[in-house]
Amino acid sequence: MDFTLPILAPSILASDYTRLGEEIDKCNQADIQWLHCDIMDGHFVPNISYGPKFVESAGSCTEAFLDVHLMIENPDQYIERFVDAGADQITVHQETCPHLHRTIQSIHNYGVTAGVAINPATSLQTIEPVINEIDLVLLMSVNPGFGGQSFIENTYQRLQKLSAMRDEYGAGFLIEVDGGVNLDNIQKVTQCGADVLVAGSAVFKAKNIPKRIENLTEKAKMGKGTIA
Ligand code: DX5
Ligand code: ZN
Repeated sequence: MDFTLPILAPSILASDYTRLGEEIDKCNQADIQWLHCDIMDGHFVPNISYGPKFVESAGSCTEAFLDVHLMIENPDQYIERFVDAGADQITVHQETCPHLHRTIQSIHNYGVTAGVAINPATSLQTIEPVINEIDLVLLMSVNPGFGGQSFIENTYQRLQKLSAMRDEYGAGFLIEVDGGVNLDNIQKVTQCGADVLVAGSAVFKAKNIPKRIENLTEKAKMGKGTIA
């Protein structure tokens, strides 16, 4: 699938679950390309979010690419269920995958793209062995588990290093940044190398969601230099 970079991926973790359809529809009004779904198990991260059924409901409200972020132990046991629920991409945490190469293969065997997420204190070197196998690297810019946190500043340097690593290996993965992205930092985040920007609170706490998505996307494009 071809996407127009940079991609703004609203994270429904921050949405009003009692009006999920309406909330996603407001994102559709802004022609979103991706929708970010955060799965949390209360073990790998200190919070529990939602499961495959919820992802299926969210997916029934949009044509957008379902970007499913598994913040769970033993993700291999759940790949099939989230693919069946409509996931177009499954991102697993490097920290939860002792057999990461095999996990990436099994995600690909289900016909969806595979991402690897790394936490703020996890070395970029941990993904080198699979750098040419993956479709996306998700750089956590907050400690995973909650929306509404502040962006961790050294993510900018990590972004630049990851971008250089991609060039060095001639790899083709997308770089996604997840956590604390907002109107004030999104331009610099894309300038430093991000292709996909996850935004939860910055989108769903806004009075006018479609307008906010538009503004975030504009600023992201300025960071990429695709608009002046
Ligand atoms: C945090 C999740 C993020 C979060 C982003 O563990 O992975 O996707 O929902 O929310 P904001 O944009 O509010 O930081
Ligand atoms: Zn996420």
